[in-house]
Amino acid sequence: MFDKEIYVERRKKLKENFKDGIILIPGNNYSPLDCKDNCYPFLQDATFRYYFGLSHPGLVGIIDIDNDKEIIFGNDYTISDIIWMGKQKYLKELVFEVGIKSFIEIEELKSYLVKRKNIRFTNQYREDIKNFISSLIDINPFNFDDYTSFELVNAIIAQRNIKSDVEIKEIEKAVNITKEMHLAAIKNVRIGMKEFELVAEVEHATKKNNAYFSFQTILTKNGQILHNHYYGNTLKSGDLVLLDCGAINENGYCGDMTTTFPVSGKFSERQKLIHNIVRDMFDKAVDISKVGVFYRDVHLEVCKVMAKNLKKIGLLKGNVEELVSKGAHALFMPHGLGHMLGMTVHDMENFGEINVGYDKEIQKSKQFGLSSLRLGRRLQIGYVFTIEPGIYFIPDLFEKWKKEKLYEEFLNYEEIEKYMDFGGIRMERDILITENGAKILGESFPRTADEIEEFMAR
Ligand code: GLY
Repeated sequence: MFDKEIYVERRKKLKENFKDGIILIPGNNYSPLDCKDNCYPFLQDATFRYYFGLSHPGLVGIIDIDNDKEIIFGNDYTISDIIWMGKQKYLKELVFEVGIKSFIEIEELKSYLVKRKNIRFTNQYREDIKNFISSLIDINPFNFDDYTSFELVNAIIAQRNIKSDVEIKEIEKAVNITKEMHLAAIKNVRIGMKEFELVAEVEHATKKNNAYFSFQTILTKNGQILHNHYYGNTLKSGDLVLLDCGAINENGYCGDMTTTFPVSGKFSERQKLIHNIVRDMFDKAVDISKVGVFYRDVHLEVCKVMAKNLKKIGLLKGNVEELVSKGAHALFMPHGLGHMLGMTVHDMENFGEINVGYDKEIQKSKQFGLSSLRLGRRLQIGYVFTIEPGIYFIPDLFEKWKKEKLYEEFLNYEEIEKYMDFGGIRMERDILITENGAKILGESFPRTADEIEEFMAR
């Protein structure tokens, strides 16, 4: 937890957006795994944690603008909780540590809200929370979204999109744990091991740092499958491992990085060629990511670097500007260049990807490839996001496009077919926008093919 002044200041800033009413911010409940008393590890809702700091289940934060009050509602510990979980600091005392003077039992919340006007809350991603809020204010949970406040969503996004210095420090801690996860994989990979054995090494590094996973670890020799969660393959000499993983640290901030490395420690000539193109794409993105630049334009420039290079090796043909504007390159990179990062890995996408990554100035494209770009808006100082270019050879997509004779003027299908056993490569780091441009967060570790080989040789 941060000092209480930070939470007081955050709530004050949020409040300034509204003249009256109540802001209601629910925390998460335990989430049952297979029965009520056997739950997934508890993860607090990031918005609740941002404004109210506490990481305990079953809480609701209220900012009552009409009465100038801030309250946390919840159920304080009973003797039963103490028997099962040991002595805890009572919530009624703990709330002072986040600058809240009033803790009230949650049974009182419904009557607190009765006859109140302008109760603002955001859209929710958990059904139990939707049902709970609906029961509090007598609305139909099936129409929940009709009652949510878009103004509140926008105010929260505007505030949380700009990371403060203390947040950047926390993100860097998470990024450095993520680095350790990557090094654990690179150091421990052995020919003949199963993917899940390497996953165990990666996740050991997370737990060792009192951290958790910011998303399910992607570790695969089939890097062409963008989010592959199957870990049953045997790693062979000649295979590449694509590792995309991240930690969420004890203060609730995330890292998310990707490395692609050879099982044997040595890239083949062809693997290095493609890896170097991905490096150039990454470097271009870092170079041009600056305040005021639309991230969609960064994405498109990076796609041009890829297209130029793939043209050089005969996979693409024709005019690079034209083929990128028409979307032919998306055969090789069907995903976007990156997304916001913070207290959740796709930061605040619980409010809707469009609301976080786009705004009045820029709409999301419907074109294949570009439609998967989660962040398109102009970059500002304090934005933290990922840069994660990749090149993939996806046999099913290739077959589909070839059959449909798509983009035949740009795609050299005969040559591309020769790469159908290649897999995929992605390179990802976490970035902060400063007045001087893009800064790669965290301690440096091997990223390029040469650096990876040199490290593995040692
Ligand atoms: N790195 C995983 C994701 O962006 O979804």
